[in-house]
Amino acid sequence: MNIKNVSVIGGGTMGNGIAHVFAINGFDVSLIDIKQEFVDKAIGSISKNLDRQLKKDIISKEDKEKILNRITPVIGAENTPTDVDLVIEAIIEDKDAKLSIFNKLNSIIKPDSIFASNTSSISITELSAATRPDKFIGMHFMNPVPVMKLVEIIRGYSTSDETFGSIKELSEKLGKVPVEVFDYPGFVANRILMPMINEATFALMEGVASKEDIDTVMKLGMNHPMGPLTLADFIGLDVCLAILEVLYNGFSDSKYRPCPLLKKLVAANKLGRKTGEGFFKYD
Ligand code: CAA
Repeated sequence: MNIKNVSVIGGGTMGNGIAHVFAINGFDVSLIDIKQEFVDKAIGSISKNLDRQLKKDIISKEDKEKILNRITPVIGAENTPTDVDLVIEAIIEDKDAKLSIFNKLNSIIKPDSIFASNTSSISITELSAATRPDKFIGMHFMNPVPVMKLVEIIRGYSTSDETFGSIKELSEKLGKVPVEVFDYPGFVANRILMPMINEATFALMEGVASKEDIDTVMKLGMNHPMGPLTLADFIGLDVCLAILEVLYNGFSDSKYRPCPLLKKLVAANKLGRKTGEGFFKYD
């Protein structure tokens, strides 16, 4: 399928980043959220991130206007244009919430459109079962979406070769590097990343080193751009915990048990950058 227009459901960090990348590559995008203020905030973030690219001469002032004009804000998933070629869901990491959105969309969106989820760990096979399993796929972008090259393309049990081929080709058109992944908990990225973040949290809880020093070890010792605790704050500690729970339950293996300190910070609403405090404090 030659995908020309796209709906992105959810205007949070991932959703607005995905809309940004489609629009900068010439696609028409509907950006959908439940309230006007959420959509306004999403467009504001895209505009700010386009300014970074403007400053670096990646785009011109006229380009910025054109890119923003390709994005149509929409309130409510039920108002998604029915003739879009692709819907990408990027709402919270909650299986029931995602299933509910896909069920709603399935009855209104044309039957040959592809449904994709940007889930970071929830089973694509389970998300697809009640709607259109052969035209359902995982499209897992990395944060910040305009900067990170990788897209994990996750094949559910029934994802067709045609759907996979269309999404692979599309990802390349977006300037990304797609990687084919089969549907197991956490896929590849988070199966490897989250145990590292969890272990860093155990090391902090056990007093092995200070939070700053744990991050320094991984930054200077392994050349990671961010230490694991800073990265966890960047991703969101609630998101990290939700992914660890998917790994722990999905594999029934205690090696993925979430660290009690991570659980405590989430319970205290210290979720990282988005709440102003996680492992570290932010202005
Ligand atoms: N939009 C557009 N450009 C952006 C941007 C955004 N949202 N955020 C950063 N940039 C650009 C900056 O303008 C800058 O551009 P130049 O290199 O051309 O100067 C570049 O990215 C680097 O940004 P900064 O100079 O502000 O800061 P930095 O050098 O510290 O890099 C970073 C920031 C790119 C985020 C870097 O620290 C990094 O790569 N961190 C690791 C990110 C990572 O691991 N992401 C994956 C998270 S896991 C995930 O997303 C999946 C999941 O399911 C949990």
